[in-house]
Formats: sequence, structure tokens, C-alpha cells
Amino acid sequence: MTQSPAKRGSGGWRCVGVVTWAALVGLVGVALMPPLTAAQYGPGTYPDIQGDYCRKRLGPSGRCCPGRYDDCSVPIRGTLCYCDQFCNRSVNPDCCPDYWEVCLGGPPPLTHACNKDGVNIISGTYKMFNCNKCTCHNGRLDCEDDACLVDEKVISQVNADPRRYGWTATKYSEFWGRKAQDGMVLRTGTLNPEALSMRMYPILLRPDLRRIPRQFDARYKMEWRGKISQVRDQGWCGASWAFSTLGVAQDRLAVESQGNESVTLSPQHLLSCDRRGQSGCKGGHVDRAWQYLRRIGVVNEGCFLYESGTSGKVPKCRIPRGANLMNLRCANDEAVYKRREMYRMEPAYRISGKEEDIQWEIMTGGPVQAMMKVYKDLFMYERGVYAASGLTREEPVSHSVRLIGWGEEDTGYGQPTKYWLAANSWGQGWGENGFFKIRRGYNESDIETFVLAVRARLNDYDRRLGGRRRAGRHTHRRHHSSKRHH
Ligand SMILES: *[C@@H]1O[C@H](CO)[C@@H](O)[C@H](O)[C@H]1NC(C)=O
Ligand SMILES: *[C@@H]1O[C@H](CO)[C@@H](O)[C@H](O)[C@H]1NC(C)=O
Ligand SMILES: *[C@@H]1O[C@H](CO)[C@@H](O)[C@H](O)[C@H]1NC(C)=O
Repeated sequence: MTQSPAKRGSGGWRCVGVVTWAALVGLVGVALMPPLTAAQYGPGTYPDIQGDYCRKRLGPSGRCCPGRYDDCSVPIRGTLCYCDQFCNRSVNPDCCPDYWEVCLGGPPPLTHACNKDGVNIISGTYKMFNCNKCTCHNGRLDCEDDACLVDEKVISQVNADPRRYGWTATKYSEFWGRKAQDGMVLRTGTLNPEALSMRMYPILLRPDLRRIPRQFDARYKMEWRGKISQVRDQGWCGASWAFSTLGVAQDRLAVESQGNESVTLSPQHLLSCDRRGQSGCKGGHVDRAWQYLRRIGVVNEGCFLYESGTSGKVPKCRIPRGANLMNLRCANDEAVYKRREMYRMEPAYRISGKEEDIQWEIMTGGPVQAMMKVYKDLFMYERGVYAASGLTREEPVSHSVRLIGWGEEDTGYGQPTKYWLAANSWGQGWGENGFFKIRRGYNESDIETFVLAVRARLNDYDRRLGGRRRAGRHTHRRHHSSKRHH
């Protein structure tokens, strides 16, 4: 029995079928964002519903229903689909998934889908191409065109010539699909130090060159075993200013207290409470962070857990100035010492950009903080000695890291490459367990431009000093460091 085409599809029960089907297709997991309307069920809409429908119904004739037959249907997951010639159109919301293949002997016409780089995008849906979203509107493709954080071309170029670049590149899933701008802002976050600090005069060190080894890693210095902190992950929050500062602070505290105060300090405290002139997840100045540590101090991680990395938001400050760990009832999670005061530091001091000065400070005092420029290719660093490849176009951004040592890497040809061993704050899955090597002695990415170190205030600081005020900070420190070394 044949009906006029106008009536087809107008029966209420058919509409119910379509709606059920829409829900079903959604469930099957095609990337459908806006709810589909019946008209969007063009051919090719349901590649995921496999199975024999028209093929089962063929019967002895071996043909699909010629013409239009409303009873030419097959059950499909609680409703019906159709195998008659009415499906010979570009829009046919209720035809069986195998109609085109079985009845017409070919793939469905892709009139309403789009194609990009060989990928079909169904009308009304989108697909991601790295960090760019491509939406198909009734056959018309609409794609974003932003620079992505991960650039496969750069990766293959760097990996094609490891001799030239000195390092290898890889595609991190954490960074894949992100805009370059997101990473450059939210994975870094160290604002340039204020002019006054940039002019800060480096302290005078007298390194004993004969005692500087070719290779040094603070984690393996005998007296410092277990005292140098692991790499953390700042997440998607431009907080490297807080992470590098506290990384150095807690290492110095652990080293100077001989392990009595081995504690993870709370970057969330700095982010949430050190607000003056600072911009939270949009970046901060390390000189201001050090001032905060000198005047006010921070709590341990367990007392104010880091959450900005996942939320992207900076919660309100919960630690009043002048609070102490006892009245805050903070779990003193790692420290052996029962300390009352928050963790405070002496004023930070600057180390000159001379390689031997930086080395001497690290091997005698502990890890130091270094400002650097981040070029986009650093996000693709896998291992080796990093030097900016010059293959990325984006403006570099300011970042800060913790230098914990140095060494020389044999390249297998010519001179070995000298490097700094640096702790980043991009988690332990990045680089060499969260660390990276960067070319030393060339001011690579400005890493030797602004290097800071600090001394910690130990728990019994006041008792030790016995109230004795110290003379000018720099003379004191110079005095102190020379005492340390001899
Ligand atoms: C349906 O498609 C077949 C194969 O392309 C074609 O031969 C036939 O004429 C079409 N029928 C209608 C009604 O368009
Ligand atoms: C560390 O603790 C031990 C045992 O309590 C103590 O003897 C030692 O002096 C402490 N060291 C420092 C540097 O505070
Ligand atoms: C490193 O380079 C930057 C700019 O390229 C410069 O301002 C700075 O003075 C240099 N630092 C050292 C220690 O050479």
C-alpha cells in the first residue's frame, strides 16, 4: 500500500520514534552538542548503530520495498526504522542505518555532513582539531583558527634534528587541545620583578672554583638526602611565582634545620593572602612573595590546600595575619618540630649571573630561584638539554623555576653540553620527572638574569639569637655565607 509522500512522517507515533532515536543516538556517544531535530537526521547520522535491519527484511525477493510502504519497517531498539524508497532523499529521519548500503549498494550521500582533513563532521555537531573547534552547520564548516599549545610541526622538527636542538619533544596529553595563550598565561605566572629589585645588587660570593664539581644534584648531596622537595603541579593557574618561591623556601628550611623542619609550604596561602600588587592566578612578583615570607610567613600545605590549579579560582584568604600554627589548629603534617610561628624567611638576596656564583650558592646553601622566559616549545620538552628552538612565533612569557644542580651532557659529538638542572612546576609527568635541563653559561632564556636565594628562620630562631639584632642584612649574610663555606 502506497501513501502520498506528504503524509509520510506526519503520524504522531513516528515522531515519537524519531525522538526516541534522537535520545538513542545521543547515548551512543556521537559528539552531539545541541539536541538534534528530526531534519538533522540526514544520511550518515547514525554510523554508530550497527547491525542488520534492511538486510534482515529483504526476504526472498532480495529487494528493499520499491516505492513507499509505511509497513516496510524493522524494529530498532524500541521503535521502528524504514527501508522503502522514501529514504531516497537527503533528509530522511527514520530510515534504517543500513538502508543505503543494502538497498542502494553504497554509502549514504554526505549532503549534510562536513569534511575536514578526511574527518566527517555530522551536521549540527562539532569535532576538535587539537585546540580548535570545528562545527558543521548544514554542510557549512565553521572552524576556530587559534595557535595551539602543542604544535606537532615543532615536535617533528625538533625530533628530526636532536643534534641541532639538543633535546627531544613530545606531545603531552595534558597540554593537547589547549590554546597556546592558555598555557602561556596559566602555566607560567611570574611577573617581572619591580625595577627596584632588578637593580638589587648581587651579594658578593667568593666561590672556590676548585671545589665546584662538574656535576651536582642537591638531591644527592649526602647531608641533604631527602630534604630537597619534589616537583609539584601548579595546574591551570599562573602561580609559578608562588611555587618557585616556596620550593626554594622549603628546601632551604629543610637543609638548614638538618631535616628537623621538612615541610611542604602552602602556595595557596601566598595566592590567596599575598594580594597587594599580586595578581593571583594571573601572575605575581617573586620579590613581593619574598617580602611576604619575611614579614608574615605562610602555613604548611595541609593547613591551606592548593586548589587554584584545578578550579582556576583563588579562594579568599583564610589565614589572618599574625596567626600562628597553634591557634589555627593546623595539622603539622610533615614537620617533626612542633612550631608555633608560621614559616618565615630572611630577606631574599640576589646572586650574580655568573655561573660559578650560582653554582657556589646552590652547593653551599641549597636550591635557588631563577626567573626565565618561556617560549612555547618548552611545553613540548621531553628530555635533553633545552635551548629555545626558535621554531615558535609566540612572544615568550616570564616564569620562575628552582635550580637544584648542574651537569654536562655528552652529546656524542664535539663538546659536552653544560646545563642547569631545574625543577619546573608542571607536575612530575612533564619533562624528566618534572625537571628539565637547560643550557648553562649562555643566559639561555634569561635563566641567569635574576637569581635569588634566601635563608630560613628556624623554629628556635629567636632563642638562638637571644634577642640580639643583627647588623645590616647584606654584611651579615656575606659574613654568614663565608662562614658556611670554610
Ligand atoms: C533511488 O535511488 C536509486 C539509486 O540511486 C535510483 O535508481 C532511483 O531512481 C531512486 N529513486 C527515487 C525515487 O529517487
Ligand atoms: C634537629 O633536631 C635535633 C634533635 O631534636 C637537635 O639535636 C638538632 O640540634 C636540631 N638541629 C637543628 C639545626 O635545629
Ligand atoms: C641575560 O639576557 C638578558 C636579555 O637578553 C639581559 O637583560 C641580562 O642582563 C642577561 N643576563 C646575564 C647575566 O647575562
